[in-house]
Amino acid sequence: MKIDGKVALITGASEGIGAACAAELARAGARLSLAARSQPGLERAAPAGALVTAGDLALAETRRRVVERTMERFGAIDILVNNAGVGSYVPSWCAPMEDARRLMELNFFAPLEMVQLVAPHMRARGQGTIVNVSSIGGKMTLPWATLYSASKYALGSLTEGLRMELRRDGIKTMLVCPAFVKTGFQQHVLGGTAPADVIRGRRFAITAGECALAIRRGLERDARTVLPPRAGWLLVALARLFPAAMEARLAAMNGTA
Ligand SMILES: NC(=O)c1ccc[n+]([C@@H]2O[C@H](COP(=O)([O-])OP(=O)(O)OC[C@H]3O[C@@H](n4cnc5c(N)ncnc54)[C@H](OP(=O)(O)O)[C@@H]3O)[C@@H](O)[C@H]2O)c1
Repeated sequence: MKIDGKVALITGASEGIGAACAAELARAGARLSLAARSQPGLERAAPAGALVTAGDLALAETRRRVVERTMERFGAIDILVNNAGVGSYVPSWCAPMEDARRLMELNFFAPLEMVQLVAPHMRARGQGTIVNVSSIGGKMTLPWATLYSASKYALGSLTEGLRMELRRDGIKTMLVCPAFVKTGFQQHVLGGTAPADVIRGRRFAITAGECALAIRRGLERDARTVLPPRAGWLLVALARLFPAAMEARLAAMNGTA
């Protein structure tokens, strides 16, 4: 896909990967609509001419407002980047159900409803790309973030299903599964703390800018899945080939072996 001139709606764009995506897609010539809760954060992240809409994407009303404002301003949405998301380090067996529902609401139901609001416009024009930001935790279950992994597995399955459902309509989907990215993500979780081994893993993290560049390049080559950094594929392959050994290693990192 040629990004120049396209309209991109990015959620979770006030900081982290979403803000870096805004900068990267603006450099590629996209016109931007950015959404998140923090108005000041969005204004800091917004390149000149970008539309910003502040609001909680866990609420259906915000999702509708973001799409309506984008259509009013630009008349089309070519790229939808469902990036807003949150984690939790509380074990799934004792996590408050309210938190589990909040996590699924933002990580799964918000992207789903954004797709339902945007897809009719894309179908009418016979083109569009839906980018869903999952995680390497959506390819292999991380025991320190089981609920988060479950939400990202669901998002991955949705992304693959949508690709097949919308194939005839000229709409593409791309799944993004970053490994470790240096952002405020760990500080923003709904609860719990990451095990020490996971915090130490931060030294292997890529920057949000590197992740955004991988997303831009994925869009340019119409990729189905991008997993930045690419070394993450090795971990996913090992988890598929040697599931018991990988589970034992991850449980040890979690301190539950
Ligand atoms: N960082 C990593 O290592 C990593 C790895 C794999 C996947 N990911 C995924 O990448 C995506 C972005 O994460 P990040 O690392 O950039 O995290 P981040 O720095 O915490 O940024 C999260 C973004 O989502 C927005 N957001 C959070 N809750 C929201 C809500 N209820 N309504 C609207 N916007 C909301 C935040 O803005 P406001 O606070 O202003 O609302 C912020 O812009 C997430 O889906 C995450 O799961 C991250």
